[in-house]
Amino acid sequence: MCGIVGYIGDRDVYPILIGGLKRLEYRGYDSSGIAILNNGKPVVYKVKGKISDLENFIGTKSKEGTIGIGHTRWATHGEPNDVNAHPHTSMNGKFIIVHNGIIENYATLKQRLIKRGYTFKSETDTEVLANLIEYIYLFGKTSATEAVRFALNKVQGAYGIGVICTDETDKLIVARKSSPLVVGVGDKEFFIGSDATPFIEYTNNVIYLDNDNMAVLTKGEVSIKTIKNDAIEPNIQTVDFDFDEIEKGGFDHFMLKEIFEQPKSISDTIRGRVDYSRNSIVLGGLMPVMSKIMNARRIIIVGCGTSWHAGLFGEYLFEEYSRIPVEVEYASEFRYRDPVINSDDVVIAISQSGETADTLAAIKLAKEKGATVLGICNVVGSSISRETDAGVYTHAGPEIGVASTKAFTAQVMVLAMMALFVGKAKYNIKPEKYSELIDELIHVPQQIETMLKDTSVIEKVADIYKDSPNFIYLGRGCYYPIALEGALKLKEISYIHAIGYPAAEMKHGPIALIDEKMPVVVIGANKRGYDKIVNNVQEVKARHGIVISIVREGDTEIAKMSDYVIEVPNFTTAIGALITVIPLQLLSYYIAVKRGCNVDQPRNLAKSVTVE
Ligand code: AGP
Repeated sequence: MCGIVGYIGDRDVYPILIGGLKRLEYRGYDSSGIAILNNGKPVVYKVKGKISDLENFIGTKSKEGTIGIGHTRWATHGEPNDVNAHPHTSMNGKFIIVHNGIIENYATLKQRLIKRGYTFKSETDTEVLANLIEYIYLFGKTSATEAVRFALNKVQGAYGIGVICTDETDKLIVARKSSPLVVGVGDKEFFIGSDATPFIEYTNNVIYLDNDNMAVLTKGEVSIKTIKNDAIEPNIQTVDFDFDEIEKGGFDHFMLKEIFEQPKSISDTIRGRVDYSRNSIVLGGLMPVMSKIMNARRIIIVGCGTSWHAGLFGEYLFEEYSRIPVEVEYASEFRYRDPVINSDDVVIAISQSGETADTLAAIKLAKEKGATVLGICNVVGSSISRETDAGVYTHAGPEIGVASTKAFTAQVMVLAMMALFVGKAKYNIKPEKYSELIDELIHVPQQIETMLKDTSVIEKVADIYKDSPNFIYLGRGCYYPIALEGALKLKEISYIHAIGYPAAEMKHGPIALIDEKMPVVVIGANKRGYDKIVNNVQEVKARHGIVISIVREGDTEIAKMSDYVIEVPNFTTAIGALITVIPLQLLSYYIAVKRGCNVDQPRNLAKSVTVE
């Protein structure tokens, strides 16, 4: 949700800013802008649209300079247009800032500033912060750094900011609270980013700024303090990064690349954790809290969107293998009621980005109430991974497409490993069953690879139904979260209305929607309850609905009633059932492409949702 980039050093800053913004464009893409200090004089360019629009707009205009900040926006306050785009300059031109997050008390602060003679050009909360900093600087006669610090003590909400002062042109000031900010450390130069991708080709030494911390960067030095003015020792860490992971690598879209990457990403998720020879699972990240997990009275899984779907799938696995009761909640609902949480509850927060505001707030609440909180995150060093008591990284590699694909399968694999790990430790799984489950788990990548060899039926179905205004997805048991995920994928990238439903619930209402024009995607790979799903397909066919079924290879019953059949390789347990999501990811991808939609950057969305 908005991407920030910046640089101070001796290099030409323009290519660093533009290149960095392109890498961060997945975080928001409705408008963008940059500010560069050229011999102390600022130039600011900002436009509605994509980074390519910004580049075209700048064209041959002046862009020399070695200090600058840039921003790509996902609008919160004020529609996407040139004026609301960042950077924002304070009324007297003393401060230029880029901001990711929301200043919740901006309306009150704005009124106070208006009373003191300030005027505003944009509708944004960010301009309020820029003017507040300037007001404190001018009337409090403080340094730029102190003005930023005092201002941050007055704001409520979330921020990751980059600030330039036109009087103190030797420094770049950054700060964060609940929005990510990473400082890249080079030789007498510093980079800033919402994550490390904008500057990874220049340095892999990074400082993850903590909440309520600010850093002042000059060409040779970094100084970090809390906003209460306590000094902090910089903790420089090294990040591993494979450059190919953030390029499209010959695929038309990141989403397609990420779908096809799943055999590898899942192998990376399980690598070093499943010991094939000893037939065991080792999750080092959980060891410090193992006794808490073993004695947990209940597991509560929280997440949003696709991560919540992974949690629902995990509920089936956990209850079956570990026999611990599980509840799965939208983080955004959990945090706003007064949930009953006890110290013997274990809360598992799932998030690809590790920055989702609602999930972070749910973690905070669970911790306050004394629960043990675990994280399942993809982004190493993200806020969620640092706020939780323990956890497991998914290691799926950077996911750039806004529609989550490989992160989902990696999350489910981590949940499967956790469920087996706990189930075995609690003696709830018989040794033969355990071996069978491990065997299935390690073969998931191979199964997906087989499926990806021929996508022709899926492409054909996509072509036929690309103009259908509605879709229904049905599944039972662990295929119900798969149905939800299929429907979410379709709506977010193709803008077709789709609902996912437990197949048996259909007769309690949604069946009224079925007629000869309604495509119904049925995940009919169940072994347990196969007859029941057969009945559900019959109910759809009796109302002349169009059945697109996902079945095991060799299926006859459902296949013969279906209009289109997509086969998946055979599997034996719920862990193997995960592979049924692959055709649904592909179906939504091909439909979106055939409708001419922007698959990687769908309208109104952003990859990381850091607002509540
Ligand atoms: C999925 O395709 C989405 N774009 C979205 O639902 C996403 O899963 C959700 O915003 C949660 O994000 P997180 O996993 O980074 O917390």
